[in-house]
Order: sequence, then structure tokens, then C-alpha cells
Amino acid sequence: MIRLPAGERMRVTCTVNGAAKSGHAEGRTLLSDFLRHELHLYGTHVGCEHGVCGACTVILDGRLARSCSTLAVQADGAEITTIEGLAKDQGLDVLREAFSRHGALQCGFCTPGVLASTAHYLESNPDPNEEDIREMLSGHLCRCTGYEGMVRAILEFAAIKRNEAPE
Ligand code: FES
Ligand code: FES
Repeated sequence: MIRLPAGERMRVTCTVNGAAKSGHAEGRTLLSDFLRHELHLYGTHVGCEHGVCGACTVILDGRLARSCSTLAVQADGAEITTIEGLAKDQGLDVLREAFSRHGALQCGFCTPGVLASTAHYLESNPDPNEEDIREMLSGHLCRCTGYEGMVRAILEFAAIKRNEAPE
């Protein structure tokens, strides 16, 4: 655990979406603020700031992490994937289209976190059923849509990834 005197900043260096990045953080700086304000990656959204809503979810060293309840200094040396990296590498344009087709988003505030969890989940669960997806989505609060459209979109996307025709 790194302890910094109040107000002191350290350089945090990490790999973000495949590229080496660095910026400064105080001991109390949240990873979400570091990503947004130091690295200018505004795709990571901040809602509750209490680890509840899931809007700030990123992939940190291969695991899902709430960036609002992770300190930036804890990410020193880590590999991070944000929604910007997922959009580039994981065919998420197809998932975004499915979200659009199924009315799975309105304001889009929760969407980066939902997409991060979905991409991470499907890596190890390529053939989920509806119940599996609902359980995965239970870590995300959406104030707009309800979850029906998200479930349909994710089922469709998973089928496309498996090269099956969507139902
Ligand atoms: S902003 Fe991080 S869980 Fe809500
Ligand atoms: S689409 Fe608005 S919070 Fe989910």
C-alpha cells in the first residue's frame, strides 16, 4: 500500500488500452478521476462514487474494477482497459448496434460500464442464457431503460460472436 503525505503527488505509470500512459495523482486520487482528468479518457463515467452503480467499471489487470473505489496509485504498473479500448478491439461496434436496435440505452450514462462488464463476461462465458446475463447486469444500475433491451442485445451479440444466427 503506497502512502503519500497529504497534498503530495506521485507519477502513476500504467498501460491503458495498449499504450503506455502516465500522469500525476495524490494518494487520495480515484482511478476514475485519474483516467478522466489526467489521461482525458472521458468514456469512463462517474455516477454514485460509492461502488454501487457500475458506471465507472473498467478492466484492471484482467479483472473488473470500480474505478471510483480504486485509488489511482493502486494502478501504478497495471494494465487498464477502458471503454475507448474496448470499442477498438472487441467488436463492440456490433454490440453497440445491437443495443441501439433493441432500445438498450437512452441517456447512455451507464453504457460504458455495462459494455466493459459484458465484454469481460463473454470472454469466459461465450454462451450465456438470459438468467446469466441478468445476474451479470445486476452489478449495473440503469435509470432509463429497464434491462430487457440490454438482455436481448447481449444475447444477440453473444450469438454473433459464436457465429450463430441471432434468434
Ligand atoms: S461511479 Fe463507480 S460504481 Fe458508481
Ligand atoms: S441508459 Fe441512461 S442510465 Fe442507463
